[in-house]
Amino acid sequence: MLMIRYSFLWFALLITLHLQAQELTQRYPLIPYPTSLTPASGQFVITAQTVLRVQDNRFAAEASQLQALIQQGLGKRLLTNGNGPRMVMLHDPAITAAEGYRLVITPQQVTLKASEPAGMFRAVQTIRQLLPVAIEGAGTPQKSLSLPAVQIQDQPAYGWRGMHLDVSRHFYSIDYLRKFIDRLALYKFNTFHLHLTDDQGWRLEIKAYPKLTREGAWRTFNNQDSVVLKRAVSDPDFDLPKPFIRNQNGQTQYGGFYTQAQMRDLIAYAAARHITIIPEIDMPGHLTAAIKAYPFLSCTGQEGWGKTFSVPICPCNEPTYTFMETVLSEVMALFPSEYVHIGADEVEKSTWAQLQACQELMKRQGIRNVEELQSYFVHRIETFVQSKGKKLMVWDDALEGGLKPSTAVMYWRSWVKDVPQKAAQNGNDVVMTPVSTLYFDSPPGIRSVENVYNLAVVPAGVTSGQTKQFLGAQANIWTEYIPTENRVDYMSMPRMTALSEVVWTGKKDFTSFQQRILPHFLRMEKMGIHYRLPDLTGFAEENVFVDQATLRIKKPLDSYTLRYTTDGLLPQPTSPELPAELIITKPQTVKVAAFTPSGVRGDVYALRYQQQAYATPVPLANPKSGLQCSYFKAYFKETNLMKQRTADSTYTISNVVVPKSVNAPSFGIQFRGYLTVPETGVYSFFYTCDDGGILRIADRMVVDNDGNHFPIEKSGQVALQKGSHPFEADFIEGGGGFTLKLKYSLNGSEPMDIPDSWFVH
Ligand code: ACM
Repeated sequence: MLMIRYSFLWFALLITLHLQAQELTQRYPLIPYPTSLTPASGQFVITAQTVLRVQDNRFAAEASQLQALIQQGLGKRLLTNGNGPRMVMLHDPAITAAEGYRLVITPQQVTLKASEPAGMFRAVQTIRQLLPVAIEGAGTPQKSLSLPAVQIQDQPAYGWRGMHLDVSRHFYSIDYLRKFIDRLALYKFNTFHLHLTDDQGWRLEIKAYPKLTREGAWRTFNNQDSVVLKRAVSDPDFDLPKPFIRNQNGQTQYGGFYTQAQMRDLIAYAAARHITIIPEIDMPGHLTAAIKAYPFLSCTGQEGWGKTFSVPICPCNEPTYTFMETVLSEVMALFPSEYVHIGADEVEKSTWAQLQACQELMKRQGIRNVEELQSYFVHRIETFVQSKGKKLMVWDDALEGGLKPSTAVMYWRSWVKDVPQKAAQNGNDVVMTPVSTLYFDSPPGIRSVENVYNLAVVPAGVTSGQTKQFLGAQANIWTEYIPTENRVDYMSMPRMTALSEVVWTGKKDFTSFQQRILPHFLRMEKMGIHYRLPDLTGFAEENVFVDQATLRIKKPLDSYTLRYTTDGLLPQPTSPELPAELIITKPQTVKVAAFTPSGVRGDVYALRYQQQAYATPVPLANPKSGLQCSYFKAYFKETNLMKQRTADSTYTISNVVVPKSVNAPSFGIQFRGYLTVPETGVYSFFYTCDDGGILRIADRMVVDNDGNHFPIEKSGQVALQKGSHPFEADFIEGGGGFTLKLKYSLNGSEPMDIPDSWFVH
């Protein structure tokens, strides 16, 4: 009895805590979440009588940014004098973090405190997120705006909170870069890395070398353009924008560039939002556009493609250095950033080895190989950059021939083991941008926001003394297949909001993040961002039914409408609305998508239904626990290829997991045995693989998630009678870290782990 009463009380407490957590996320939907937030009751109401007092002139710009925000919502600016309720901005030298701030909102007053303008600006962004979504975009002015009472003490966990955009592969207008900076500001990023040059286009005016943009900023359509133009037939987000197409001497060309004056304005626009633009001039590879305009830059006077990458510039000729130093002088005069990024990634160094000039230089300098030759180039450029009072940053490939500890490294090659740890040991500062999570050019899927959220900014294996060398993290958007602003929006939002919390808040709570993000979608919509709508969940892609199936899909946001088709065509705003329950009685494909109130369509889900009889169980005489596994220490492109080899070892395991002892970078595992299900039903399985896997139960293909890819969850169903059924799961890992998860659900339950007791052999 006592037990029951206590457990009831405990239950009541849990419910209360849960409700509080939900209410908190609704009342304070802040992303990134502050370091410390103390809830309070009541609200401060902003009206035409509210007064904004700024104690210190150093915050004049931030005061005017707050005024602009309020004007958007109220239709007028706040008074600066009078006896009405106050919002006050105070200088507080006790706040030691330059970007830190305090914010106290009571029903009587709003107080913002910071020691530096950067901190005050971040405080204003917090206010922006606490104000109603209605203030965004062109809305009808409100009579009053309310802010929930709260106490916040906030400062960033990391100093490098970045987003990158490749403006070379495809080009974006200055207006769009401004919009992009606006959203960086909203999410408290402080770094915008512009990849300004590459093989496919040179995008920054260099006065000493006008042909870099006159010729290098333009191209005839390339292979990547052909791919996107094909996709554009059914999706306008892939169409090459007309303003970037010109006709030159009878040729259709694509391109564009930024003048230094335009870039200066953009830098100032970012600086007003306490965001630094980092310029990247990629060298000595990725320079075809420049070599075409100035052929002397390459050792042979030719541009072209080597075995893997484009022909680089020549590190063995003095004019190359003069050219690059002149370019960098203009770049460094234009960009006030502490860092200059020179890429130094993906260089076809082999082309240097045969050249007499290089052989002579290598002999003279005691350079043993082409990796060291690249490092010789990087060191010379670093010396030059340092002579102008700046620091050099490179991609981690540049470590191969050796780097000085003074060079900052951007880590991207997830598949090369221990690079960040080795860079830290070498004394380099590191910014984490691993391709496995932070390359936003990889298509987003059901787990991609969560993957970003789970990023470790300081990787395992780093000593506590090296922690401070991890400056922060950044997501990169390479744009070979991203020709439009809408597509950049889709690829980056909402993933970048998850990154903002990783780098600002440090400590993480994904459940709370998932609740807080919902109103942000409404804000993004008002801001005109073509974000990727939240995933529709709770169903499998491959479905089976015995007599009939019922499709139920919960809307991620009340304001969305779910629409569907059964004729194979994509759902349109005119397609029928998905009812609360759609009864399926015949084999067919149902295509479902969510639509925002403004008609933007989310991802289209194709749900295939096939009819099955319940599989008959297999009688087992003497089943033993666990699954039998065959382990292959080799690289496989597809799970099927394991069949052509003999296993390196075999063992028994309790569930579908990779044993801790596996440390080969590439391997394959076959899991074999029986799955014993406790009741008859249609079971759903959710199989997440990085790289690939397939799942067969009762000799039926349930999930095909084969191939080499990043973590992808795929799902399927199978109708099983109570009892044991043949079970086969295959899994392959190609290198760079694996993910393997298998969950099940029955009767629409949340996906759950499969109990060990279900597996026998
Ligand atoms: C890179 O993705 N080549 C840095």
